[in-house]
Amino acid sequence: MTKITIAIDGFSSTGKSTVAKQLAKYLGYVYVDTGAMYRAVTYYAMQKGLINKEDFNKEALIYQLPNIEISFKFNRYKGFAEVYLNGENIEKNIRTLEVSNFVSQVAAITEVRQKLVEQQQKMGQSKGVVMDGRDIGTVVFPNAELKLFMTASSETRAKRRFNELIERGDDVIYEDVLKNVITRDYMDSTRDDSPLKKAKEAIEIDNSEMSLEDQFNKILQLVMITIEDYE
Ligand code: DC
Repeated sequence: MTKITIAIDGFSSTGKSTVAKQLAKYLGYVYVDTGAMYRAVTYYAMQKGLINKEDFNKEALIYQLPNIEISFKFNRYKGFAEVYLNGENIEKNIRTLEVSNFVSQVAAITEVRQKLVEQQQKMGQSKGVVMDGRDIGTVVFPNAELKLFMTASSETRAKRRFNELIERGDDVIYEDVLKNVITRDYMDSTRDDSPLKKAKEAIEIDNSEMSLEDQFNKILQLVMITIEDYE
């Protein structure tokens, strides 16, 4: 079967990674969570004391970018690839509300984006890849055969993210999660470099009222139609 590139973009907590993982498993494709890469750089900046609530030393982070090595390793027990920063598994550390509160500032830096986009393009060069993020269909793979743009209401998304964080055992308040979702949407879609926007050929999926199963089936159908078109 012809291998294609599937680009999934959309607002935060729209379930991009859930459906991307399902597709990758079903199709035997590689899944790349590009948000995890921006989170990894943010986590590095936090660890090095370069970013906090008062201050962000962008120049120092840019200077230290060559010291940041991000990789993915497939965890067969979990069924997906976990993210590593300089050889350390940081999959759990990057999913906190604290990282979410800083990540959009880090993702707005052009030098950070250049480094990560280059790595993402290499990871997807052989096709057979499902990549999710904010600029996959517009910047990373503008020639992707299938582009999806996921949306859902901010309340639906904040509820999903809140439940995930509570399940992990994090001590969070719903209002803070909602605020983070709204702020990130704004920052990610208004930044100068590669803002989040729907690629013109992207198919919009609003999953506010959709079950995971219905969503998967609908998207799989789109994938199959696309593959047929390219065969
Ligand atoms: O998908 P996520 O919520 O884990 O992404 C975290 C942040 O990273 C998101 O708010 C914006 C940034 N991001 C980006 O700028 N470009 C991408 N391709 C992926 C994520």
